[in-house]
Formats: sequence, C-alpha cells, structure tokens
Amino acid sequence: MKNKFLHLIVGLVLLTLATSCNQQSSSQEQVRVGNYSIVHNTIVFDEPQRIEGQKSVLQFAVDPIENVRIGFIGLGMRGPDAVDRMTYIDGVTVVALCDIEPDRVEKVQTDILEAKGLPRAAAYTGREAWRELCERDDIDLVYICTNWQTHVEMAVYAMQHGKHVAVEVPAATSIEECWQLVDVAEQTQRHCMMLENCCYDFFELTALNLAQQGILGELIHGEGAYIHNLEPYWHDYYENWRLEFNQSHVGDVYPTHGLGPLCQAFNIHRGDRMKTLVAMGTPSYNGKKIAKEMMGVDDFANGDMTTTMIQTEKGKTLLIEHDVYTYRPYNRLFQLTGTEGFANKYPVEGFTILEDKLPEGFLDADQHLNPHAFVPTAVRDKILAEYLHPIAKEIEAKAKEVGGHGGMDFIMDYRLIYCLQHGLPLDQDVYDAAEWSCLGELTAASIANGGMPVAMPDFTRGDWNKVQGYKHAQ
Ligand SMILES: NC(=O)c1ccc[n+]([C@@H]2O[C@H](COP(=O)([O-])OP(=O)(O)OC[C@H]3O[C@@H](n4cnc5c(N)ncnc54)[C@H](O)[C@@H]3O)[C@@H](O)[C@H]2O)c1
Repeated sequence: MKNKFLHLIVGLVLLTLATSCNQQSSSQEQVRVGNYSIVHNTIVFDEPQRIEGQKSVLQFAVDPIENVRIGFIGLGMRGPDAVDRMTYIDGVTVVALCDIEPDRVEKVQTDILEAKGLPRAAAYTGREAWRELCERDDIDLVYICTNWQTHVEMAVYAMQHGKHVAVEVPAATSIEECWQLVDVAEQTQRHCMMLENCCYDFFELTALNLAQQGILGELIHGEGAYIHNLEPYWHDYYENWRLEFNQSHVGDVYPTHGLGPLCQAFNIHRGDRMKTLVAMGTPSYNGKKIAKEMMGVDDFANGDMTTTMIQTEKGKTLLIEHDVYTYRPYNRLFQLTGTEGFANKYPVEGFTILEDKLPEGFLDADQHLNPHAFVPTAVRDKILAEYLHPIAKEIEAKAKEVGGHGGMDFIMDYRLIYCLQHGLPLDQDVYDAAEWSCLGELTAASIANGGMPVAMPDFTRGDWNKVQGYKHAQ
C-alpha cells in the first residue's frame, strides 16, 4: 500500500514536470520581439512577400546610356570628390548639385566645374530640394553622398522617378530599409548600387583574381574590418549625424567596407549565401566619453568594439569587426584563407602561395616558397603586378592620377559609368547593397539576445544559387 502510494506520488511529479517542460518548450519555440521572432533559439526577421508585378533584378541591365547625366545630393566631406572624379570620365555630364547648405553647392560649382572649364550645374539648396532634383527629366543617375539616415528615402524617391541610383555606404540602416531598396528596385526596374569602394582597391582586386583563378584553392574563411579611430573627424559630420547615430545604435553600424570585398570573393548570392550570424559587442568606453563631451549625454549604445561571425550556406565562415573609437592603427582588414593559399592586407600585405600553384617560370629556377610564411617581398610584388585584376589593369594609371583612397574610388566610378554606357549589369546590385548593409540591425538583435544566432534574410528571395560565381561584366 505504502509502495503504491509512493508510485502514485512519483508519477504525479513526473507528469507535472513533463507538462511544464512541454509548455516551456512550446512557448520557447516562437517568441515575437518587434519585427522578428525567436524560433528554436534563432532570431528570424520578417521577410515581406514580393508583390504582384515586381520582378527580380538579378543580372539586371538597361540599354546603353551613351552620356550619363548625373545629379549629386550631399556635398559634405565625401560628395565633392565624387563630382571631381566623374569629371575625368568621358561621357558624363554633371547636371545638378544639391546640398542643404548653399555655400557647399557654390564651392563645387567654382572649385571643380568652373575651374575645369565645365558648365555650372543646376543648383538645389535646402533640406527638401533633393526631391526636385530627382524629379528632373534630364538625369539618368542620382548619386547620393548624404548621411546614412537619408539614403533610403532619397534612393527610393529617385528610383520612383525613373532614375538609377548610386548611394554611399551603408545603403540602408535597418532591415526594413534594406527590403525597401530591394522592393523599389524590383518594382521600378532601376539600378541601385551601393558605392562600396573597398571592392576596388588594388590588393582586394588582386586577391579576388587569385581566388577566381583557383590559386588559393577553395576559400573557406574570410576576415574584414573597419577599424578607424574617428576622433579627429567627429566634429566634422554635418549636424553631428554620425555620432548621434552611433549613440543610439548597438551593433556593427558600418560593416560594408570589410564585408563587401569578402562577399565578392565568396560568391555571395552567386552560388552561396550568408546564412547565419552571431555578434558580440563590448561596452562603450571611448564612445561614451566623446558623446559626453560633444552631446552632453551619459548613454552610448554602440560598443567600442563589435565582432560578428557569419556562416554561409556552404559552411564557410566570415569574421567582421567594427571599432571607430580606440587608439589603434588604421586597419581595414581584408583576409582570405583558402585550402591552398592565403591573402592578407593590413597591417602587412602578403600572400602564402604553394609554389606549384604559380605558372612555370614565375619563380627563379632555384627559388622555393615556404608554405608556412608569407612569400618574399619580391615575389609578393610580382604577384601584385602580374595578377592585378583586369578591371584594375585597364585603368590603373588614370586611377592613381585621379586618386580617391589611392585610386579605388575612381575605379569604382569608372566601372559604374562603363557598365551603364555598355548596357551591362553593375558590379554591385541592390541585393549586395541590402546583404552588406543589413548587418547593422542583425548584429544589434544578436547582441541584444546574448549573441543569439540570427538567420540572415535572403534578399534574392530564393535566387541566390541561380548565378554561379561572381564576375565583373565586360
Ligand atoms: N566610401 C567611403 O570611403 C566613404 C568615406 C567617407 C564617407 N562615406 C559616406 O558618405 C556619406 C557622407 O559622408 P560625409 O563624410 O560626406 O558626411 P558629411 O556630414 O560631411 O556630409 C553630408 C552632406 O549631406 C548633406 N545633406 C544632408 N541631408 C541633406 C538633404 N536633405 N539634402 C541635401 N543635402 C543633404 C549635408 O548638408 C552635408 O553636406 C556617408 O554615407 C558616409 O558613410 C563613405
């Protein structure tokens, strides 16, 4: 009798435990937080459906535009150099210039256009005048160099008024904005290219070329970063937009310089896709100090250092870092690890290459390469010269003369115009813009949930495997 009673009690306890476990696991299966759900310990953002009549812009191209007529919005630290670079490209007309501040527009008119004997452009000034620029019927491309918070509104309006768009980095600041860019580009069938200039630096292009020629073997891991102490510049951003943004945003808010060149090398949405991300951030120390001095506030959301790991559908890994606050050497890390080779930029440029991967006669007769070390400097320089990517080779001398971060900015603009003039798909499409920019909100969500994995949205809506291998159209 005593035994039976004991069994009954144990049974009841087990049943209660099982029921409560079940309730807990079913309630843990899906938790709703704002615009995402937590499903089986993974954060999944809402993905809007493609609306009827909207179609993919993968490999999108338009008829050749012989003379590309450009309207520029935003003439602060970055914009005037973009105007200047474009004046070196044949078949480009600077039609209109816009900034809130009239003196910034006037300075570009006199110091760049008039100084080169070019006609003055139509001038738009004030906070809303950019809309009139977008509404003109004699502009093909709207080139946006304003603060991050304004990019999407301007890009969307420009596309809805029939213009192609080139927009500075990051193109968007939230998942919703990323989808907006994708959806409007698909609805209007317009180009929307983010101006990720680091994809065009000489070392990155050479490493991409080595990877594409199989010299590094199968790429398995990549690292990229934006580590740049912005202390000397915080005061120069118009109305303090950058510090204000960072003050209220956790996560990697400026990921595209590190991520862009890696995504091209890893064929993202051209045979592979970024699938899952986890991020962690440190507390804010230096950011907080600057915000106290400049804004009189005690809180600062953005951690001094943010680290993100991404895994692709094929299982490859990418590491991305962001630090714009601490005292470190400038480091726009770019690193590729392949099964048979390695490329590294910052703090030193170098390669590890297996000697049988190089063509016969490339090395001196009795020369051998150490597979555990960087190749000697002379071999590295020969690799940099002989494996320079064809798109850089064709324009190298002019790019170095015009400049812009050592020439990469000019190669970017040159390629943008070349593709438009030849009716080719652009080097970076709107899906790249969304994939590279979306890290901001995704990393914030991961950090807010203790480094929880985040499912990365597929902005191509299932088309990521249709194109095999990243290519620059020729
Ligand atoms: N790719 C790179 O290497 C690189 C380098 C620097 C900056 N950037 C990017 O360029 C963009 C601009 O940065 P910046 O350093 O020139 O900032 P900035 O503050 O110096 O300039 C922004 C300009 O935009 C103008 N502006 C803002 N709102 C406007 C509106 N409604 N209408 C017209 N003009 C408006 C401002 O008046 C200002 O002149 C940012 O997206 C930044 O991330 C990229």
